[in-house]
Amino acid sequence: MKAWGDLPGEAAARKRTETEAAIKAAGIDLDPVPPGHHRHGVDEVHPDGHDHPHQHSAPGETPYTGIVGAGAVGTALGVALSRAGWPIHAVASRDEGRRHRFTSLVEGARPFVEPQALVEEVELIILAVPDDVIPTLASGIRMYGGQAMIHTSGALGAEVLAPAMAAGTQIGAFHPLVAFADTERAIAAFHGATVAIEGDDQLATLLSSMAERLGATAVRLAPGSKAAYHAAAVLAAGGFIALLDAIAELGAVAGLDEAGSLAIYGPLIEGTLGNARALGIRAALTGPMTRGDIGTLEAHLATLAAHAPGVLDLYAAAARREIDLAQERGSLAPETASAMTATIVTALARAD
Ligand SMILES: NC(=O)c1ccc[n+]([C@@H]2O[C@H](COP(=O)([O-])OP(=O)(O)OC[C@H]3O[C@@H](n4cnc5c(N)ncnc54)[C@H](OP(=O)(O)O)[C@@H]3O)[C@@H](O)[C@H]2O)c1
Repeated sequence: MKAWGDLPGEAAARKRTETEAAIKAAGIDLDPVPPGHHRHGVDEVHPDGHDHPHQHSAPGETPYTGIVGAGAVGTALGVALSRAGWPIHAVASRDEGRRHRFTSLVEGARPFVEPQALVEEVELIILAVPDDVIPTLASGIRMYGGQAMIHTSGALGAEVLAPAMAAGTQIGAFHPLVAFADTERAIAAFHGATVAIEGDDQLATLLSSMAERLGATAVRLAPGSKAAYHAAAVLAAGGFIALLDAIAELGAVAGLDEAGSLAIYGPLIEGTLGNARALGIRAALTGPMTRGDIGTLEAHLATLAAHAPGVLDLYAAAARREIDLAQERGSLAPETASAMTATIVTALARAD
C-alpha cells in the first residue's frame, strides 16, 4: 500500500478522513486531555477547576439564549420567544437605539455591543444578521464546549458557522418562513408558519421545541435543497411584492392610487389563491393566455410599452409561463401557443 504522501492530493485527503473516522469509531483519542483537565476550542486545555464563562441551564429548562443582531428578525424572534416563555438573556447590537428597543421589549435581556461578549454568557447563540455578514461574524467568534450556535438565514447552510466551533459545540439553522416587515405582524405570523431547521439530532430536537413554542412547525429539508426552498420563499414574499407594485403601476395608469389598486385587485388575488388551493395551480389559470386571445395580448403589450414600460418584462415573463401552463393542461393548441410567444418576442424587440 502507498503511504499517504505518495497519493495524489484528493485521494490522500479522502484516505486520511476515512482513517480518522475509523480511529474515532474505535474510540481512540489521538490527542487525549490529561486527567483533571478539559478542552476549550481546538487546542486549549484547562484544569477542571476553571469556570466556564457562560451560564448553564438546569435540565428541562430552556437554554440560556442570546441573539446577535437587533434587526427585523432578531427583535421579532426575541420578543416572540420571550412572550412564549423562552427567556432571552442577552442581545448584541452595535446600534444603541436598537439595543435599547430590544431590551425595552424583551424583559431580562442584557445588552452587549460585541458578539463575543454575548457568547461568554449564553448557551444558545442565535445569529440574526444579514447573510453576507454571517460567515465573517462566525469566523470572529470563539465558542465553548456545551454551546450551540444557529443562524436564521434561508439561503445559507449551517456549515458556514463551522469556523466558530470548538470541541463539544454544535451548529445549526432556524429559518422561519415569515416576512419580517413589522415586529408585531411578524410575531403573529409565527403561528402556523414553517421553520426550516438544521442541526444534529440533539440540536434539531431543541430547535423543534423552539419552533413549537412560537406556534410554528419545524421541517428538516433534504440535503442540497435549501437554496431552491429559499428561492421559492423569495418569490412568494419579495417576488409577490414586485408583482403587486407592477399591478399598482398599471392601476395608476387607469387612475387608481395604491389603496385603490389594493382594494380592487386584492379580492381578485385572494380569489385566485383560493382557486389554486381548491383546484390546483394549473386548473386555477384564467385569462387571455388560456383562450389564445392574441388580439388582447397585443393590446396589453402595446399599452405597457406606451404607459408602463417598466412592467413590460414582468408581464412578458408571466405570460410565457401562463402560455406553457395553458398548453400543458390542453387548453391551448401548440400553433396558437407559438403565435402568442412570437407576439411577445416581437413586442419586447420593439421596446428595446
Ligand atoms: N427579513 C426577513 O423577512 C427574513 C426572513 C427570514 C430569515 N431572514 C434572515 O434573517 C437574517 C437577518 O435578517 P434581517 O432582515 O433581520 O436583517 P436586518 O434587519 O438588516 O438586521 C440585521 C442585524 O444585523 C446587524 N448587523 C449588520 N451588519 C453587521 C455586522 N457587520 N456585524 C454585526 N452585526 C451586523 C445589524 O446591525 P446592528 O448591530 O447595528 O444592530 C442588525 O441588527 C438574515 O440571514 C436573513 O436572511 C430574514
